[in-house]
Amino acid sequence: MHDRTAGDLESFRERVEALVHHHAVVVDNAYTGWFAKGEATRDEVRHLTIQFSVFSHQFVEAQLRKVLNAADLESYRSGKEILMNELGVIFRPLGQAPGSQGGGPDHEVDPEIVGTDGTVDGGKFRFTAAHFEWLLRFGAPLGLGFDEMGKRRHGTASTLFFCDELLRIYGSEDPSEAEGASYAVENWAAAGFWKELIAGLRAFKARECPELPLGFWIWHDKIEDQHAAHTADELAEAFFHPGFDEERFLAGAAEMLDGVKAFWDGLQQDRAQRRAA
Ligand SMILES: [Fe+2]
Repeated sequence: MHDRTAGDLESFRERVEALVHHHAVVVDNAYTGWFAKGEATRDEVRHLTIQFSVFSHQFVEAQLRKVLNAADLESYRSGKEILMNELGVIFRPLGQAPGSQGGGPDHEVDPEIVGTDGTVDGGKFRFTAAHFEWLLRFGAPLGLGFDEMGKRRHGTASTLFFCDELLRIYGSEDPSEAEGASYAVENWAAAGFWKELIAGLRAFKARECPELPLGFWIWHDKIEDQHAAHTADELAEAFFHPGFDEERFLAGAAEMLDGVKAFWDGLQQDRAQRRAA
């Protein structure tokens, strides 16, 4: 095997982009396209909320697995940034003294205000800053309680398939496969589905649920723009890592996107069935 060159990276990057940027779930997500129109009923918003809560809670477990399987200290730490932030450690802006961020308690945990920049190192842990707790506060005006969200038992078959694929591929012991899944997830997430959900939720909120807090969704949309900017660097770094396997990276990315697609297609099918019932 010869040493990889910048030219090799460019041709690999083209293959990755052809796969990820043209995958059906990235370019044409029927469910979120429909949701953006703002026609979802309360029952449909509740169903989305429950399925999303199962995915985002199970994602924490996949992220932990990714950290445990990290190939080096640097990726171990970048995985932990995401994991700890999910669990409630607020990012400390670089340049601010450890443990000093935030104003009053409500101010610092509100996702509409809480930062998307910085590091969890020296950041402050707050129960109420956990992303799952943001989602609980979103679910409350919809009549959803703690025991109705986030557990595997609340997931449909397609939601659980997606969660299991995250554990298997995103959390894989094989770094090439895991990197491929990670690249796929970041690029899917940055491709605009948060904006489509936010558009639909704003319409629903204005129409019938003025007390609905949208911070969970807005915060994630904001952070994805930065994540996507980092993925090009990460791809280059993974590519030159000893032992990197291009085919396993591409397979990980493709299978992960199929898992993502199963989640949204499941919601789309549930919608058709509910309307028919
Ligand atoms: Fe999150």
